[in-house]
Amino acid sequence: MRKTAHSIGDLRSAARRRLPRMVFDFLEGGALDELTLRRNRQQLDDQMLRQRVLFDATHADTRTSVLGTSVDLPLVVSPMGLLTVCHPEADVAIARAAAQAGSVFMHSPWSGCSLDEVVAVAPGRVWAQIAFWGDPRETARHVDRARSLGVDTLVIAGDVGVSSKRDRDLRHGTGMPPKPPLADVIDTALHPGWVLRWLTGRPMTWGNYAIDGRRIRMREMERWMEVNENPSASWEDVARLRREWQGKVVIKGVMSREDARLAVDHGVDGVFVSNHGGRQFDGQRATIEALPLIVDEVDGRAAVIMDGGIRRGADIVSALALGADVAAAGRPFAFGLSAGGQSGAARAFEVLRDELVTAMGFVGAATVDDLVPSVLDRTDVADPVRANA
Ligand SMILES: Cc1cc2nc3c(=O)[nH]c(=O)nc-3n(C[C@H](O)[C@H](O)[C@H](O)COP(=O)(O)O)c2cc1C
Repeated sequence: MRKTAHSIGDLRSAARRRLPRMVFDFLEGGALDELTLRRNRQQLDDQMLRQRVLFDATHADTRTSVLGTSVDLPLVVSPMGLLTVCHPEADVAIARAAAQAGSVFMHSPWSGCSLDEVVAVAPGRVWAQIAFWGDPRETARHVDRARSLGVDTLVIAGDVGVSSKRDRDLRHGTGMPPKPPLADVIDTALHPGWVLRWLTGRPMTWGNYAIDGRRIRMREMERWMEVNENPSASWEDVARLRREWQGKVVIKGVMSREDARLAVDHGVDGVFVSNHGGRQFDGQRATIEALPLIVDEVDGRAAVIMDGGIRRGADIVSALALGADVAAAGRPFAFGLSAGGQSGAARAFEVLRDELVTAMGFVGAATVDDLVPSVLDRTDVADPVRANA
């Protein structure tokens, strides 16, 4: 892994080779026409940085802190459900890699691993995502579990009230249980390494929920979701959680000024700018476009986290220059996991950290606090001379 993967793109290619097409498409794909998925990248590609010369780049310090947690680099892991399909070590592998890298792992409520398992391997480095389920007792149990495990930060899944449509998954018959067409059955058979891991590894289910005290079976998952999907989740749920939870609260999926204001008014500690990596609502803007408006609205009253399309160290520089406290990423770590388990996820951290250090050297930043708007080259505005002055 170390020798062959020089970029997140290399990890993606390795994942592409190792995974059956239907699994890779589940991981990589986005909603509908994938406009937002592509836009996240396009807008990051359009961010230009300003090169400085003769800057002493001997000691780039990438350490910072977010919501009271010290991190060795300004990059944390976004929550991802059902990573068991990529590799049986799933969240446990990524959580270990995150802890080793001095980062934070966000555990998804849709994860195949329980919160207990990831806290055990990455103590003090796990934030728990929660969903406001149709049966509020499920949410309450999850929150209680987080509390008893000493988890300090809850991340509310804000953008899941409406379920998305992903054409790639529909074509492959991806669901619980999957109903793949013959072409996918053949393609899967051509990936014997994956098939062996699938048959002998962690069973495909959710780690956090049970029926009658046993893990939910794959054929029961869809039914469980139907009962628990909750289109009526609202800010009242946030207000209730805020009253009951003494630790930190983050809302994920904030893409507008209005919601950023509501979040701050409800006393949240962190606003997570995210369009779910283009997987939920297609046709909306990129997160890097929404970020400056939200930073302006929040005005220092909460931490700001941004994900969506981060694939290079320079992307982290752009996100921080536009006001994020830290960046976050999903697929880069899932590609790493699929390519090589924990060492693949660890490689994703190494690659992004090395690229971040290089980018910091070129823009003349000795510390993360030096990543301010002036590191960006504003060629996009009407008067670039003034904007860069
Ligand atoms: C396989 C997969 C599963 C995901 N599951 C969740 C989830 O359970 N909860 C959530 O809020 N977001 C989920 N997301 C979205 C990520 O948290 C994150 O917002 C997105 O991946 C960021 O974009 P990036 O992949 O380009 O870094 C998932 C993303 C992927 C790729």
